[in-house]
Amino acid sequence: MRILGIESSCDETGVAIFDEQSGLVANELYSQAKKHAKFGGVVPELASRDHVRKLLPLIQKCFQDSGLSPAQLTAIAYTEGPGLVGALLIGATMAKTLGMCAGIPTIGVHHMEGHLLAPFIDKEDIPFPFLALLVSGGHTELVWAKGLGDYELLGQTVDDAVGEAFDKTAKLLGLGYPGGPLVEKAAKQGKKGRFSFPRPMLNRPGLDFSFSGLKTFVANTVEGLALTDEDIADVSWAFQDAVAATLKRKCERAILQTGAKRLVIAGGVSANQTIRSALISAAESFGCELIAPDLAWCTDNGAMIAFAGMQYLKRCAVPTNRAIRVRARWPLTDLQG
Ligand code: KG4
Ligand code: ZN
Repeated sequence: MRILGIESSCDETGVAIFDEQSGLVANELYSQAKKHAKFGGVVPELASRDHVRKLLPLIQKCFQDSGLSPAQLTAIAYTEGPGLVGALLIGATMAKTLGMCAGIPTIGVHHMEGHLLAPFIDKEDIPFPFLALLVSGGHTELVWAKGLGDYELLGQTVDDAVGEAFDKTAKLLGLGYPGGPLVEKAAKQGKKGRFSFPRPMLNRPGLDFSFSGLKTFVANTVEGLALTDEDIADVSWAFQDAVAATLKRKCERAILQTGAKRLVIAGGVSANQTIRSALISAAESFGCELIAPDLAWCTDNGAMIAFAGMQYLKRCAVPTNRAIRVRARWPLTDLQG
């Protein structure tokens, strides 16, 4: 079995072909980040238009690179949601049209399930059950993953997502978009101890998160500064340290609560090395293994959608519905196993 995967939920156009025997045989990614940078965030209409421009050439490139043709595919997977509705519609329409022309089924994949399964793209199997921390631009969730499509939400952010907090902090520091990698880079030059930022929600029980207060704390701190390179580095360090400590503590609580033997971290923010190190230490202190995706699969990509689609193709009946449906909002807990 062989599947084409299409990701278009936000500002990355990703296409990949995953083969059941050989694994990933083609992978193409185009990031629109530079286009949105001057606006300080993603402009939905620009994102949709760029997906229209890039999607077909990337699909053609995947066929070229792999030497395959649409007739050699078993199915097409696409991101059905959550995400920007216009951007999602471009990928869904392309998938449905190609599927109809090739006479093969299409599979609507949940974007966050794509992220959650991404650490297993090059592994033999997926070791359910496990605890997962999903940290991206739109989501911050602790999930108990029981099986494919079978997820229990243990905790989530009550306001901003952690990636959003990185992006807003970067904006306040004049670093640009997307902010996560830029804050991480600046923090490398930062000094410990000059600023101390709050660790949100740690004084309360439970597994929910809150990051909007931390962002306000950054705004107030920045107000009194000339924002020299040293200031930017020190604020970045303190912000990242507070985020890493908060995620670490919540994961420790979740490991204790669930007795998890594996902790999976996924989503764009999982690329952050300080956060990875904090979670390795959280996991290790409970005899738990931290599983993180290859850096290439942390941020949005087509490979994770092709891989997730393949899991459904292997284990479940695939719907033959021809309607083009996307969902801007779609809780991970609403999937059918
Ligand atoms: O998963 P993703 O590519 O898209 C969404 O589904 O949202 O995540 C993007 C988010 C952005 O907020 C970006 O700033 C953040 O992930 N991010 C990072 C890093 N790389 C990307 N945050 C912290 N450190 C990084 N190295
Ligand atoms: Zn994502």
